[in-house]
Amino acid sequence: MHEIIWATPLYEFLRQCNASPLEKTVLDCGAGGDAPPLSLFHQYGYTTYGVEIAEEALAQAQEFCQARALPLNIARGDMRALPFGNESFGFVYSFNAIIFMTKPDIARAMSEIERVLKRDGLCFVNFESVDDPDNEPFCETAPLRRLLQSERFAKHADNEADAYFRNFDVLRKEKKFAEWVRWGRQFKRVTIEYIAKKK
Ligand SMILES: C[S@@+](CC[C@H](N)C(=O)[O-])C[C@H]1O[C@@H](n2cnc3c(N)ncnc32)[C@H](O)[C@@H]1O
Repeated sequence: MHEIIWATPLYEFLRQCNASPLEKTVLDCGAGGDAPPLSLFHQYGYTTYGVEIAEEALAQAQEFCQARALPLNIARGDMRALPFGNESFGFVYSFNAIIFMTKPDIARAMSEIERVLKRDGLCFVNFESVDDPDNEPFCETAPLRRLLQSERFAKHADNEADAYFRNFDVLRKEKKFAEWVRWGRQFKRVTIEYIAKKK
């Protein structure tokens, strides 16, 4: 039986990717953790690649792949300098990952995503909104703080991230206000998601 992934906005991205005539190769930027969303794309016949900067998150993803014999090809890498040639992928996404970086690094990562995408290729990226209530700094010992020299989530105003998509047609943009309860705690999150096609 197929597993349902947590990263549900990627189902809409997958729907749009499936409608594209491009070869089914997909890259996840920030691909680690114990439930890598690339498994969804694998189920639908994509050749998958992922880059993950943090050792622990990479180890979790590799354990997930080994336990299921899934060749997701997730390796250590930094989305600010993607180890792939120009126009290597039909599809690239970064889910809940770009937000950990500073704005200059987000701009770098966005130009890398554009560089490795083929013409007419699709990308999905989500950003943290300025309306998100969480302004807490990352824990002093968090590995990402050291790896990214970033102190807290970078936040974007409603149209601010449009600038990263100058060379794209934006196919879908969604601002989401989410509230949920997990581990007995209430969470709130405001994000802005883009699905865009490279011109
Ligand atoms: C919240 S996790 C989400 C993981 C996965 N996308 C998911 O939805 O399950 C964000 C991941 O992005 C990774 N990350 C952040 N900045 C990165 C960078 N510059 N290059 C590669 N990975 C990065 C983090 O280490 C972390 O594992």
